[in-house]
Parts: sequence; C-alpha cells; structure tokens
Amino acid sequence: MKLIRVVFGIGTLSAMLAGCVPKEEEATPAPAPAGSPAPKKEAVSFTKSIKPILSNKCTICHNVEVLPNRPWFETRDSALKSGMIVPGKPDLSRILTVIKEDPEAEKAMPPVSHRLSKEEIALLRTWITEGANWPGGKAGRVEPAFIPQE
Ligand code: HEC
Repeated sequence: MKLIRVVFGIGTLSAMLAGCVPKEEEATPAPAPAGSPAPKKEAVSFTKSIKPILSNKCTICHNVEVLPNRPWFETRDSALKSGMIVPGKPDLSRILTVIKEDPEAEKAMPPVSHRLSKEEIALLRTWITEGANWPGGKAGRVEPAFIPQE
C-alpha cells in the first residue's frame, strides 16, 4: 500500500504546536468567560487548521455521495452525534482513535493513502481538548473540494 503523506504548512504548524504539546489532557477546557483577558496561546482555529485536514484527508470518502448514510464531518452537529468528536475528550473521540490504529488494521483511517502526519494529529488533539470549537454556517461546513458546490 502506497502511503502518501501530504505535509503542509510545517512552519505554521510547528509554530502553533510550540508550547502546546498534548500532555495528558491539561485539565478540562473551560471556555474563557466573556471579558476575561485573552489566553496566552492562541487556540487552534477550525477554519485555518482543522477544516483543511478534514476536507483534504477525510471528506473525499466521508461525504453524502460516497458514504451516503454517514455524513459525519459535514457540521459540528453531525460530528458530535456520530461520536466522532467528544469536545474536551480526545481519547473518546473516534476521529482520533481510528487515525491512531495501526495503518495495516482494517479500522485505520484513512484506509488508503493520506495518512495524517504527527503534526496534524497533534492539532486535532489540541483542538478537541480545547472544546472542538467549530463555527456554524458556511464557514463550518466541511465539503470535499472536488464536489461541485451549488
Ligand atoms: C478512502 C476512503 C476513506 C477516507 C479517505 C477516510 N475514510 Fe473513514 N471510513 C471509510 C469507510 C469505507 C468506512 C467504513 C464505513 C462503514 O463501516 O460503514 C469508514 C469509517 C470510518 C469511521 C468509523 C469507524 C469506527 O470504527 O467508528 C471513522 C471514525 C472514520 N472513518 C474516520 C475517518 C477519518 C477521521 C478520516 C480522515 C482522517 C477518514 N475516515 C478518511 C472510508 C474512508
């Protein structure tokens, strides 16, 4: 099986990762109360960091056309309902447990090519630990690049 690793934006990724190496879940992600001072490090951005991973590496298969009854990643709601993401609990989030399967295992995702890099997995983990912030509306809709948008 040919594994193609697409590594993008390493500079940005390592910059973002510096200082937020996922230790055993540092406490629970308490959303900052309104009006509190800005957090020291920037939270992982769904739009900048997570959406590209999902749309480049997952929604080529996980979309209504290829896997009709499982549009798991389209929106935050669908990802939560399917147990794909459990905000604040990366170890319970299927999205991470399947990625970490041995690549030869049947359950490993993605099944062919496009395995995620360590940096991408770390980003997903941090993002989920931070509460899986995922906007609604068009910005939060994950669609595979090749499916024509109406
Ligand atoms: C090449 C196509 C393909 C790609 C790419 C792909 N998947 Fe899947 N995925 C599948 C298929 C097929 C299934 C099995 C569906 C079923 O069992 O009905 C599946 C099942 C799953 C499941 C359910 C398995 C379980 O045990 O809960 C999860 C979670 C999942 N994929 C996550 C991902 C994630 C995350 C990505 C991107 C990193 C990804 N997949 C990329 C084809 C793909």
